[in-house]
Amino acid sequence: MKKLIAFALASILTLGLTACGGGASSTGSSAAASTAASASTAASAADSTDASATSGESATPTLDAIKEKGTFTLMTATGFPPFEYLGADGQPAGVDIDVGQLVADELGVEYEVLDMDFGLLIEALKSGKGDMIGAGMTVTDERAQQVDFTVTYATAGQVLLLPADSTITSAEELKSGDCTVTVQANTTGDIYVQDTLGISSPLQFKNAVECAAALAAGKADAAVIDSVAANTIVKNYEGELKVLDEMVTEENYALAIAKGQEDLVEFVNQVIEKNIENGTIDKLLEEHTALSSEG
Ligand code: ARG
Repeated sequence: MKKLIAFALASILTLGLTACGGGASSTGSSAAASTAASASTAASAADSTDASATSGESATPTLDAIKEKGTFTLMTATGFPPFEYLGADGQPAGVDIDVGQLVADELGVEYEVLDMDFGLLIEALKSGKGDMIGAGMTVTDERAQQVDFTVTYATAGQVLLLPADSTITSAEELKSGDCTVTVQANTTGDIYVQDTLGISSPLQFKNAVECAAALAAGKADAAVIDSVAANTIVKNYEGELKVLDEMVTEENYALAIAKGQEDLVEFVNQVIEKNIENGTIDKLLEEHTALSSEG
């Protein structure tokens, strides 16, 4: 930390008063261009009456197939507390993991969780490696062309996570060429930084936890990550990191299901709605925020 302050001071002296030191080198590769993150409304539930019922075919082919298989598989990307993180036992835990369990329970089947890089989730879903993505995934138009989203179960926005002694007060200040900004690869934060702030090569990491670690190690001037994750992670860096209140985007989280599985979307929507109404989702958020910032 001392070294960082000395370094920052030296940079201010040599470069003049800029928000960022300009010393941390950016090595991240740039993500493929993608459309700006616009929170669109979640896909509406499919009508439960199905014409095929009259033709003798099952109205719930996906649900039937899952029951037949006997296992419901959730795909996630840990390192994003409180939605998904590695628990004390080294296994994925978090709000999304528990919501997946609720779905499996309602289906009456076994439950399995696959943990992978966030950027691989949509392709994995499309190729049938799992039944659903639960990864604090923001609904965007671009993603909605590839997968179907359930109703929204949480809202968030991008915020700035900064070293505690940072003088940065707004996202706009990151546009200065001297700033090294770290993001979670292939996320809406990554898209915001590249497309809206025009920073072509942010320092990309696999997840929010790694972004925070890089920031604390003095490798970057700011991280742009989801508010809920930032507010949870910052508790493990007391005195070292801080979160700026300003939310620079508004985002809706939903679960993602492969196209053409309307019966599963409808089923999961009912599970979500029920558990929002009875307060379970709020309770899980609270519980996992406390658990994931314990150590
Ligand atoms: N909400 C952001 C997005 O959809 C970030 C999600 C990151 N999730 C994770 N499990 N690592 O792009």
